[in-house]
Amino acid sequence: MRLAERISHLELSPTFKINAMARKMKAAGLDVLDFSVGEPDFESPRSAKEAGKSAIDRNVTRYTANEGTLELRQAIVDKLRTENALTYETDQILVSPGAKASLYCAVMALFGPGDEVLVPRPYWVSYPEQIRLAGATPVFLNAPQARGFKIAPADLDVACNPKVKGLILNYPNNPTGACYALHELKALADVIVKRKLVVIADEIYEKLLYDNREFTSIASLGPEIASRTVVINGMSKAFAMTGWRLGYAAAPKPIIEAMGKVQSHTTSHPASMTQVASHAALRNAYDDVERMVAEFGRRRDAMMAGLAKLTRLTCVRPDGAFYVFPNVSGLFGRKIGYRTVMCGQDVSEGLLEAARVAVAPGEAFGSPQHIRISFSCDMQQIEDGLRRIGEAIG
Ligand SMILES: Cc1ncc(COP(=O)(O)O)c(C=O)c1O
Repeated sequence: MRLAERISHLELSPTFKINAMARKMKAAGLDVLDFSVGEPDFESPRSAKEAGKSAIDRNVTRYTANEGTLELRQAIVDKLRTENALTYETDQILVSPGAKASLYCAVMALFGPGDEVLVPRPYWVSYPEQIRLAGATPVFLNAPQARGFKIAPADLDVACNPKVKGLILNYPNNPTGACYALHELKALADVIVKRKLVVIADEIYEKLLYDNREFTSIASLGPEIASRTVVINGMSKAFAMTGWRLGYAAAPKPIIEAMGKVQSHTTSHPASMTQVASHAALRNAYDDVERMVAEFGRRRDAMMAGLAKLTRLTCVRPDGAFYVFPNVSGLFGRKIGYRTVMCGQDVSEGLLEAARVAVAPGEAFGSPQHIRISFSCDMQQIEDGLRRIGEAIG
């Protein structure tokens, strides 16, 4: 059978190979420490669980409005106003089954054949593939380690040409943990407005910020940039609710309406009980979020202290999210176990074989000199994992 042409442009994530190897080793009874995960290891807030269960008992089990319940959209409007200084009406909100689905609706509604979309590199795995699925072309903009994995306004300006329609901006960033300061955001917003781009601001890690850093949404920097921004957020990371599947978008009404059309013919809406649980979390679960962030902060410090001892690696201290993204090029040409390593993929396969430690190869994020290590695990695992890595790389 011949598959659709668009599938031939889709890459299988390089993390797939590592995950498959790790699963096989675990099934064979080997003690593999998994640092490749992209989700909080905390329980969902009690208020969300109770509300979700009660929704099922009350038979809140039917279709909801395509764009999500009014009650939930109102809670999102309130959240955006009080926490992010953003002013939206409920008809400027679209609730989707996960932020990934929100992003997909945005990309499908905004970009098509002939359009180019700027994607800072390193990038989260799904951006380039969603852009390709829409028939548009991702164009990568380097966010080098030497610049703290951030893009420069001048580079953004130079990259613009008449085909470039948009930019995807994700901070705190997966995989690097980088977060933009206010003056950096303002400079980027100036270029976005000048070049008449649309920006998809993926703010899913908003709450996971350390050292008392404050989050600023780029859309809050003025009406001009707000009119060009699609804000994406969701429950997965801040509220440890990955499996519930709830994301949302806030944007000017014509964009939200266009995204709603995409959603009405694909996923319809997130599960009704998930919407009830998410409403409860948005109204009541901030203590849970605070506890989780404090613990992630301690783990980040432990991870950085351990990595500092591995002198062949260099690592930028992440401001947010729950990943470190060390540069492993100092290992290239050396052996891990029996394997001579020449790229991030080799290092991650070598560490899995020799140290029984699973990390994500940088290739998955467009950066073969790096590996991504998640600190979404307990302190003991961080200690054991770093010791094993240290022994394996010598
Ligand atoms: C940067 C980024 N955006 C979006 C998502 C999607 O999150 P969700 O679980 O809400 O679909 C993820 C999940 O890993 C992510 O890392």
